[in-house]
Amino acid sequence: MNHLLKLLDLTGDEIMHILDTGDRLKAEQKAGRKHDFPAGKTLAMIFAKNSTRTRVSFETGIFQLGGLGIFLSNADSQLGRGEPIQDTARVLSRYCDGIMIRTFDQSEPEYLAKYGSVPVINGLTDFAHPCQVLADLMTIREHKGRLAGLKIGYIGDGNNMANSVIAGGLKCGMDVTAACPDGYHPDKTVLDFAATATNARFELTGDPKTAARGADVIFTDVWASMGMESEIAERQKAFRGYCVDDGIMALANHGCMVQHCLPAHRGEEITEKVFEEHANEIFDEAENRLHAQKAVMYLLMR
Ligand code: CP
Ligand code: NVA
Repeated sequence: MNHLLKLLDLTGDEIMHILDTGDRLKAEQKAGRKHDFPAGKTLAMIFAKNSTRTRVSFETGIFQLGGLGIFLSNADSQLGRGEPIQDTARVLSRYCDGIMIRTFDQSEPEYLAKYGSVPVINGLTDFAHPCQVLADLMTIREHKGRLAGLKIGYIGDGNNMANSVIAGGLKCGMDVTAACPDGYHPDKTVLDFAATATNARFELTGDPKTAARGADVIFTDVWASMGMESEIAERQKAFRGYCVDDGIMALANHGCMVQHCLPAHRGEEITEKVFEEHANEIFDEAENRLHAQKAVMYLLMR
């Protein structure tokens, strides 16, 4: 593994190795023990979209590893004035030991990896959110003690989160049922991969109840992702019936978890009640961004 561009690129064993490393780093940090990581590494962090969790968890994470995070927003770097990503890749590779990028098009992290000479980490594109789903898998394993054999019900937009939940869940041996309205299906490359999965079952449905029935973990996400704000009215119509509420939770297995990458829109994709009843799992998930991403940096940047 040289980069983290999307979970589709990783094997199930590689994902499990990241999760094991995350568990170890989390235990070390909680015990106040020093991590075995070379001091003085720098991570360039490019943000073309807003962030709370990704920025703070990467910046804190590289600091806890004894290094430095450098925040670059489009508004104040030359990227925002049109400097090509290929040139940015080669320049940042001369200064930094890794590059994290949050942007729109998946081609940008892929280009950074192609033209740069340091590891590239995808901190969210329109296509994928691999760091988030590594944290989610880590959280599910903490709460349930295992991944393989559990059922994920994903309810909502077939977006970056859906793509990464499907890829990551199936690779870890979890059955995944995704409920997405017509016109809002996950990416075709992800559906093609899902069709070939042998150690876990995948189903795409238009019925949120089918996703919820027998689920051990329910996932949802916002109906309009960053960059799609102008579509909110038509999306609210398309996603009617896709709210994770008590009726949906009643169909799931006893002790079913809820995962939401945040930020959450209460009253749209999830009710206030379900959110608050599962807040502990959801904020464990947010915390695990730190530990899972430290694991990714630990494995890529030593
Ligand atoms: N879940 C997540 O990526 O949060 P931010 O947008 O705050 O980084
Ligand atoms: N799907 C959401 C995730 C935010 C962390 C978005 O892309 O805006």
